[in-house]
Amino acid sequence: MNYSIIGSGNVGTALARQFANAGIAVGITNSRGPDSLAALVKELGEKIIPQTLSEALKADIVILALPFRAHVAIASATSDWSGKIIVDAMNAYGLAPEELNGQASSDIVAAAFPGAKVVKTLNQLPAKLLAMNPVEKGGRRVMFLASNDAEAAATVAELVEKLGFATISLGKLNAGGALLGMRGPLILQNLIKLT
Ligand SMILES: NC(=O)c1ccc[n+]([C@@H]2O[C@H](COP(=O)([O-])OP(=O)(O)OC[C@H]3O[C@@H](n4cnc5c(N)ncnc54)[C@H](OP(=O)(O)O)[C@@H]3O)[C@@H](O)[C@H]2O)c1
Repeated sequence: MNYSIIGSGNVGTALARQFANAGIAVGITNSRGPDSLAALVKELGEKIIPQTLSEALKADIVILALPFRAHVAIASATSDWSGKIIVDAMNAYGLAPEELNGQASSDIVAAAFPGAKVVKTLNQLPAKLLAMNPVEKGGRRVMFLASNDAEAAATVAELVEKLGFATISLGKLNAGGALLGMRGPLILQNLIKLT
């Protein structure tokens, strides 16, 4: 299983830091190309692999850490995403409720990546907190997940646990994803699981 992060801003860098801390290799890309990631690699080490977008899209698990609207350009790379797990770490920041049309934002992402198994997670903490050691106060910071595919959710949960978080599954995107969305009750909740 290999991994990539699309986006090297606040969230992409926080996630890269967690991968580096866990000793797990991850590709990372942005809109400016691999050379722009040299300083990040210097800081975090060789587990962080600068990539072009097309290289990053070859990973088994691709984590979207982009402004929400930018996922459309990424999705246009191919019309068939079968076999791929897409992790939606984005929030639909700046979208009017009418644009969501009653859907969870991850349902919109899933529609843009036909064939992919989409898992919503890694979106719910402020980037500064996301970058911090998830082991705190005798427990582990909680990371919720939602997906329409139980197997993909379990695969991503295994990764997120390896990054140090305590995962809790919330079921499908239309229910769990909505709880994690911009207006959901679980966004920005810094919760510690004690066992
Ligand atoms: N900031 C937070 O605390 C936070 C917390 C949770 C979730 N989120 C969500 O996470 C997502 C990312 O937020 P952020 O704060 O990390 O944003 P950010 O700092 O603005 O970073 C966005 C990244 O996306 C890259 N990007 C944009 N369009 C691209 C494209 N077409 N191809 C490749 N890379 C592209 C940018 O590349 P360049 O570096 O080359 O410009 C940049 O690295 C958003 O959906 C946000 O709502 C944010």
